[in-house]
Amino acid sequence: MLPRKSVTWVLLLLLIFFNLSTSHSDPRWAAKKRRLRNKVRTMFYHAYDNYMIHAFPHDELKPLSKSFTDSLSELGNLKLEHLPQDYNGSALTLIESLSSLVIMGNNTEFQSAVVWLSENLTFDVDARVNLFECNIRVLGGLVSAHLLATDSTHRLGQGVYKNQLLTLAEDLGNRFLPAFNTPTGLPYAWINLKYGVVENETTETSTSGCGSLILEMGALSRLTGDPKYESAALRALRKLWSMRSSLNLLGTTLDVSTGEWIEYSSGIGAGVDSFYEYLYKAHILFGKEEFWRMFHLAYIAVQKYFKHGPWYHEADMRTGKATYWQLTSLQAFWPGLQVLVGDIAAANSSHREFFYVWNKFGVLPERYLLDHQMLHPTEKYYPLRPEFAESTFYLYQATKDPWYIEVGESIVNSLNLHTKVEGGFASIRDVTTMELEDHQHSFFLAETCKYLYLLFDDSFLAEQNYVFTTEGHPLPVLSSWQDRLPETYIQSNWTFLKTDKEVRRTSAMSKQVCPSTSLNSWECAGQKIESACHILDFHGDHRCLTDEECGVDSTNCRRRSCSMAGYCGLWLFI
Ligand SMILES: *[C@@H]1O[C@H](CO)[C@@H](O)[C@H](O)[C@H]1NC(C)=O
Ligand SMILES: *[C@@H]1O[C@H](CO)[C@@H](O)[C@H](O)[C@H]1NC(C)=O
Ligand SMILES: *[C@@H]1O[C@H](CO)[C@@H](O)[C@H](O)[C@H]1NC(C)=O
Ligand SMILES: *[C@@H]1O[C@H](CO)[C@@H](O)[C@H](O)[C@H]1NC(C)=O
Ligand SMILES: *[C@@H]1O[C@H](CO)[C@@H](O)[C@H](O)[C@H]1NC(C)=O
Ligand SMILES: *[C@@H]1O[C@H](CO)[C@@H](O)[C@H](O)[C@H]1NC(C)=O
Repeated sequence: MLPRKSVTWVLLLLLIFFNLSTSHSDPRWAAKKRRLRNKVRTMFYHAYDNYMIHAFPHDELKPLSKSFTDSLSELGNLKLEHLPQDYNGSALTLIESLSSLVIMGNNTEFQSAVVWLSENLTFDVDARVNLFECNIRVLGGLVSAHLLATDSTHRLGQGVYKNQLLTLAEDLGNRFLPAFNTPTGLPYAWINLKYGVVENETTETSTSGCGSLILEMGALSRLTGDPKYESAALRALRKLWSMRSSLNLLGTTLDVSTGEWIEYSSGIGAGVDSFYEYLYKAHILFGKEEFWRMFHLAYIAVQKYFKHGPWYHEADMRTGKATYWQLTSLQAFWPGLQVLVGDIAAANSSHREFFYVWNKFGVLPERYLLDHQMLHPTEKYYPLRPEFAESTFYLYQATKDPWYIEVGESIVNSLNLHTKVEGGFASIRDVTTMELEDHQHSFFLAETCKYLYLLFDDSFLAEQNYVFTTEGHPLPVLSSWQDRLPETYIQSNWTFLKTDKEVRRTSAMSKQVCPSTSLNSWECAGQKIESACHILDFHGDHRCLTDEECGVDSTNCRRRSCSMAGYCGLWLFI
């Protein structure tokens, strides 16, 4: 039984029963989705082909001047010192496009990209790069593409692929390791690819910089059999977690040599966002209870101290007092994460607010002052960010509510209307004037186009569960990577145990996500959707007297329990 006095109601949404509409299977919707899918495909190739013509092998395209920028190294080297004279970048946008090419079914282009990278890419350059960015974009892009190249679908021609991407990833992973050589194990924010940590390097970094490495570095360890990458990321994550306040809140920036906080205010946006995301996704990918325990406490604290209606403000980690009342474009990923947790109603209501702001300006501004209902005076830009499209995709997966297709359509139309230029897609400098900026970020191809495509065509997800990294690179959920089965599955002795002997974890990412909201039917979106661990509640209406009458949640294989009000749910209690 739950310690009832201390039960905290955290977003339960699980009791919201959808009236699952069947209109998604309506031929008109199918035609509309195909049409939109093709539109997104055209967008992706417009961005990709222009990059290949005007910028490759440099990092990113400048779509207005049809030239390039070597952003990966320029970020850490604004004066462009040290770089070799004839430096040609790291083909960043190509690396970021690999998994999107696979999702869009372009195996020939994927193959030639793999061949080019195998022969030409080197990390042995005197370039100071941001560890976090390089990890999510480059290491994540390579590891994900390696997994896609070697899965059972044989995408690459016979004999073409000899683990070259993994070799590159391993080389890069080794270049990351010196960053972790600090008294605390927390990594430096910056690393020189050739020489390691440079003299007098800044010791200031962010929470996401220390806490969003475990998926990529963990995957690298699983693939190479060498635990050192995962160990380094895990040690940093544990140290970071140990620095939380008594309210289970973290700050935004910290010092890696002292392990002390610099900025005590934090929220779910810039500098912190992917820390939360990776705790939960690491739990799905590696099946470690430790990640769930951290995420569980962190998630409750977010909902308790940051949430205000559908919005999330920032708060001081020491007191929980609200600090900044601002909506930022990066926060728009949160509803997508909530879908994975099964918190559909909270996800839906925040997503609607983001859509309201999107509609108000035509795109999502970087920062919006909630207390004044106005734009931030300087951060008025929209750099083609993916987070709102990402959440729209997750919500559609979970609910199949055609409304999200309409949202997706409006995103596609805005992007084409405001950001498409002859030479690609350009960021918006100011959403009030729609003045453009000469930059097409690689995440437009890795994420924005990918999530929109998957919203309209999820056939890629049919056979396999994936966790998407914070840069949108898919990592398959493999039972061989799972530490052990969740306790709930092992211990349960339920009447409803599935006959199916095969035990498979759900990533909550495929159609299996449908979950708790539709437990009363055995169906979701017209298809039987079962994760292996899913066990129905005893009563179809989810009423209960004791915990024993509740089942196991399909999104994360955790045992549901009986609330004070007499309903089964995934109650998070402290
Ligand atoms: C960069 O590209 C130019 C032109 O293709 C080539 O001559 C040069 O060798 C390249 N630089 C490096 C470091 O590979
Ligand atoms: C794959 O991408 C290349 C480069 O944009 C394009 O020429 C080719 O038509 C694409 N193939 C498919 C099947 O989409
Ligand atoms: C890439 O590598 C191949 C084979 O080594 C070489 O022929 C080609 O010129 C290289 N391309 C560039 C741009 O360096
Ligand atoms: C590092 O800092 C020390 C002390 O301020 C200074 O003497 C030294 O020149 C600096 N080194 C570099 C490479 O900037
Ligand atoms: C989302 O919220 C809207 C408005 O409150 C409601 O009409 C709709 O049914 C909700 N959808 C889901 C999937 O919860
Ligand atoms: C589990 O179920 C079996 C058969 O239904 C029963 O014999 C056994 O006692 C149960 N175990 C527990 C721990 O409830």
